[in-house]
Amino acid sequence: MQHDPLMSPVIWDLGHIAHFEELWLTRNLDGPVEFVEMPGMYNPFEYPRRVRGTLALPTLAEFRSLMEEIRERVLERLRTADFEDGNTLLHDGYVYAMVAQHEYQHNETILQTLQLKRGAPYPAPRAIRMPAGSPTVPNDGRMVRFPGGLVTIGTTDRTRAYDNERPQHTVDLAPFWIDEHPVTNGAYLAFMEDGGYETRPLWSDAGWQWLGEEHGRAPKYWQRNADGWSTRSMDLVERVDPAKPVCHVCFHEAAAFARWAGRRLPTEIEWEAAASWDPATGRALTYPWGDEPVTPALANVDQLSFGTARVGAYPRNVSPIGCYGMIGDVWEWTASDFLGYPGFESYPYREYSEAFFGNEYKVLRGGSWATRPGAIRNSFRNWDYPIRRQIFSGFRCARSDT
Ligand code: AVJ
Ligand code: FE
Repeated sequence: MQHDPLMSPVIWDLGHIAHFEELWLTRNLDGPVEFVEMPGMYNPFEYPRRVRGTLALPTLAEFRSLMEEIRERVLERLRTADFEDGNTLLHDGYVYAMVAQHEYQHNETILQTLQLKRGAPYPAPRAIRMPAGSPTVPNDGRMVRFPGGLVTIGTTDRTRAYDNERPQHTVDLAPFWIDEHPVTNGAYLAFMEDGGYETRPLWSDAGWQWLGEEHGRAPKYWQRNADGWSTRSMDLVERVDPAKPVCHVCFHEAAAFARWAGRRLPTEIEWEAAASWDPATGRALTYPWGDEPVTPALANVDQLSFGTARVGAYPRNVSPIGCYGMIGDVWEWTASDFLGYPGFESYPYREYSEAFFGNEYKVLRGGSWATRPGAIRNSFRNWDYPIRRQIFSGFRCARSDT
């Protein structure tokens, strides 16, 4: 069923994942690349999310056999795939990484749906124990300084990066300050208790309008009880932990908090520089800690914890300038609209990125606890409407060095 107009029925995601795989790993490998040929029902542009509940989707059993049949054909084609091919789709296995990454992204989308599930909450299998972290955050809200200067943004990678992460380019950044940790529930509670949601000057016109329509007075999934605030992740309800990053806030809430704190949101370029740039070596790292791939030991990722960890709980998840938790826990809102970098070229299909460029979407960075490791890195760019907060979204603040 469709649990919320914001989300597809989960079975639609399954069919869409399978047909995307078939399209790219069989048909488009040998014929002309035409994303528009995505079979009708699973074409996200033909059928926006809110109508997907009305589609005559196959049953789960029918899907399973269809998916098996598609996978067989994909594996058959893989047997003769030449990764040294001049065809850039095949070169270094790019198109296989792209299809896997697409599925990873829908894995996170499905969790957003399960969190919105009607009826009994989804019983989440909690596969790991997160590091406990410290219940009190020393110097909550502390900032670290980025010295400014020329930094390399984006990537030249063609094995798995999306088109929107290229071309790599140099930006001359002014010095700035950025939060050492994502904004915590504790800090956000102080904003709420100080009347943040009622103080008009903290909000943009669009933010104030959202507030009026949504009647938001706390992050989504928060509930006020006799003894304080609690929050829910799937079937787990817990007291709001002041040491964990705030999650399920929209861009407007993040921007209002930042103004209240005398700060602002970082641009996505500042965010990436703070995550990747090592001023000592003049080099950009793939992950905050270096080039070692993301694992659940390094950061809170991969849908294992079903919640955020206390800030600083992953001591190796730190960037060269000293920002913690940039990968995992919560996606971080930035001040930036989703646009192409200078010289952007869409590849391999314009409906991945280019169709969304403009001022309607804001960029989020860094991935959440629900992000699969294969779909996150310092240069990865996510985007959504500034009013959305069913996503696993938080933020950190910045301040200019003046
Ligand atoms: C990057 C999360 C905005 O879900 O619309 C999935 C990812 N693109 N299938 C989305 C995506 C194509 C995309 N976001
Ligand atoms: Fe998709």
